[in-house]
Amino acid sequence: MRRIIPVVQEGVVSAGRVQTPVKAIDKGSTALTSLPPLALYVHVPWCVRKCPYCDFNSHELKEDLPEDAYLLALQADLEQSLPDIWGRSVISVFIGGGTPSLLSARAIDRMLSLFRSHLNLLPDAEITIEANPGTVEAGRFDDYARSGINRISLGVQSFNNAALQALGRIHTAEQAGRAIELAQRAVGRVNLDVMFALPNQTFAQCEEDIRQAVAWSTSHLSFYNLTLEPNTVFAKYPPAIPDDDAAAVMQETVAQRLQDAGYERYEVSAYAKPGARCVHNVNYWEFGDYLGLGPGAHGKLSFHHGIIRQARLKNPVSWMENAVKRNGSHLAQSGPVDGADLPFEFMLNALRLRHGVPAHYFEDRTGLPLIQVSKTLQQLTDQGLLRPDPSRLCASDHGWQYLNEVLARFLP
Ligand SMILES: C[S@@+](CC[C@H](N)C(=O)[O-])C[C@H]1O[C@@H](n2cnc3c(N)ncnc32)[C@H](O)[C@@H]1O
Ligand code: SF4
Repeated sequence: MRRIIPVVQEGVVSAGRVQTPVKAIDKGSTALTSLPPLALYVHVPWCVRKCPYCDFNSHELKEDLPEDAYLLALQADLEQSLPDIWGRSVISVFIGGGTPSLLSARAIDRMLSLFRSHLNLLPDAEITIEANPGTVEAGRFDDYARSGINRISLGVQSFNNAALQALGRIHTAEQAGRAIELAQRAVGRVNLDVMFALPNQTFAQCEEDIRQAVAWSTSHLSFYNLTLEPNTVFAKYPPAIPDDDAAAVMQETVAQRLQDAGYERYEVSAYAKPGARCVHNVNYWEFGDYLGLGPGAHGKLSFHHGIIRQARLKNPVSWMENAVKRNGSHLAQSGPVDGADLPFEFMLNALRLRHGVPAHYFEDRTGLPLIQVSKTLQQLTDQGLLRPDPSRLCASDHGWQYLNEVLARFLP
């Protein structure tokens, strides 16, 4: 069985794992009659140590974190972006990384005040911060919560100390447990990131990680199949990992055990208790808009005349130095999405959702007529790869197993 492409980690649309390509300007782009919901992604690019499997835009911190310079640049980045989102409400904020939990409680407070004063942040907006269990001090999560953080996503990865060491993690399973306790005390909504198909991992060890993850009864779990990404230490010195068949069995076991424990698998890697889906990620998958601030962050913004994609400079120092010049030089790319790419980009996101999306989202959010893809949709439905429901765009059970093949059919 083939593996399904892992595209979006919790909240992440940052350089390193580019979700969708930015293409050259296409004058014959699209026309939208309404704008989709808008989310905000903020990238914090520093980590205590670079993990050998990680291809995110994360940089080992060699000295003190330059909080003041970072916040100044963030404010400049945000203020330059405001004309693109005038009048729009923000449904969610995701502070991702990197390791945002390296930021002090004061810095997070200043950041959220900045967003509240500049944006129409909905009163019930989901506001998530990513945290590494190795950077958690008592009281910090409570302070974050007092500032308005209402969801914490913890990078646990495994509950096995040997596995954590093989992954180059800076924390033990015991520290992860402590961080989970503190997070659950501070906020109601906690996600745990766990990976499977780890170096030398046995099926029994994977089962034990599942058991321990479920035992914490957090509202959300993300289970990722470890992938060896180009330009990482693991790509250069590949560890022995379970083969594709073994990984597929682990994936099926994860899905079954989590379902038995009351979690709904609503996306390829995401599992939620009732009412606890990640609003921010669902917005990506439903082809909503997002403003991405911070080094390497990507954004997608819709206008009545079409859709643009942006990417910030990846290097943290270059981004900080250029953002404060307030002349747009902190942007690595910004331009309209080529209309020819939109069907694939839309499906790449929408079909990851187990129940897909309402069919009218295609026209609403790409500005293209559904008829443009109706032949492909019909063929895939006839082959049993899409559900035969004209009101939704949704992969069948079989199609979901072979998502790469399904998506390839929408390539321009
Ligand atoms: C930005 S990191 C999360 C927060 C924090 N930096 C940490 O690691 O604790 C997002 C998540 O992506 C997952 N991830 C990173 N690299 C991966 C890879 N090569 N394969 C599969 N999942 C990966 C990990 O589960 C990680 O927690
Ligand atoms: S802590 Fe997270 S973001 Fe940082 S290097 Fe490790 S996996 Fe990547």
